[in-house]
Amino acid sequence: MKIQFLGHASFLISTENHKILVDPFISANPQAENIDISQLNPDYILLTHAHQDHVLDVETIAQQSGATLISNFEITSYYAPKGIEGHGMNTGGSYTFPFGTVTSTLAHHSSSFADGTYGGNPNGYLINTGKQQIYISGDTSVFYDMRLLPELYGKIDLAIFPIGGNFTMGAKEAALAAEFVDTDRIIGCHYDTFPPIQINKDKARSWFEHYKKELILLEVEETFEL
Ligand code: NI
Ligand code: MN
Repeated sequence: MKIQFLGHASFLISTENHKILVDPFISANPQAENIDISQLNPDYILLTHAHQDHVLDVETIAQQSGATLISNFEITSYYAPKGIEGHGMNTGGSYTFPFGTVTSTLAHHSSSFADGTYGGNPNGYLINTGKQQIYISGDTSVFYDMRLLPELYGKIDLAIFPIGGNFTMGAKEAALAAEFVDTDRIIGCHYDTFPPIQINKDKARSWFEHYKKELILLEVEETFEL
C-alpha cells in the first residue's frame, strides 16, 4: 500500500490495483498548489465527513474520474443528484470492495456541508486489503472505545491521525489514540493548514516518543510506502 499526502487531511492511497482518494481539499489549499486534481484519477473517493476542508474537490474529481464515493449515507445521498455514484455506509458497518474491506468507525466531531445541509455523523475508516490494515480516524477527539478496533478487526499497521488541535485532537491526544489502537506508526495530518492548527513538530514528535511510537510527518506530495 502506498500513501501519498495531498495536504491537510487528504491522501491518495494506492493498493495493488486501485486508487482511493481520501478527503480532497486541494484546490483551495496553498500548500497543495502544485497538485493538479485532474491527474489524480481515483477509483474511489472516501469521505470522513461533510466539512468543506474535507470535501471541497469531490464534485470536480468524481465527475472527471467517475470515481465511486464511499461515505456515510447522508453524504452519498447529497452527491447522488449531482450524478456521482456512491456507496453509503454508517458507523459500525463493514463492506468489502474490490480493493479490500472498509469499516466505518466512530468519530467524535460534527458534519455539515458548507450550504448548511446535514452531513450525518462523522466517521473514521479502517481499510483492510487482506495484507495490511490502516486506520484513518477522521477529525475526532481521542476516545476510549478506540481500543475496540484492534480487538474486533485485528492488527492495525498504520494510523492516520489529525494532530493540529483546536478542531480535532492534538499530538498529545493522538499519541494516546495510537496507544489505544496499538499501532506503532502514525502519519499526522490536519495541522499547519490554518492559523489555529499551527503546531511545533518537535513537540508533536515527543508526545509519540513517550509511547515509543513513530510520528511520520510527510511533505505535501510525499509518498509513504507501507
Ligand atoms: Ni471537520
Ligand atoms: Mn477538518
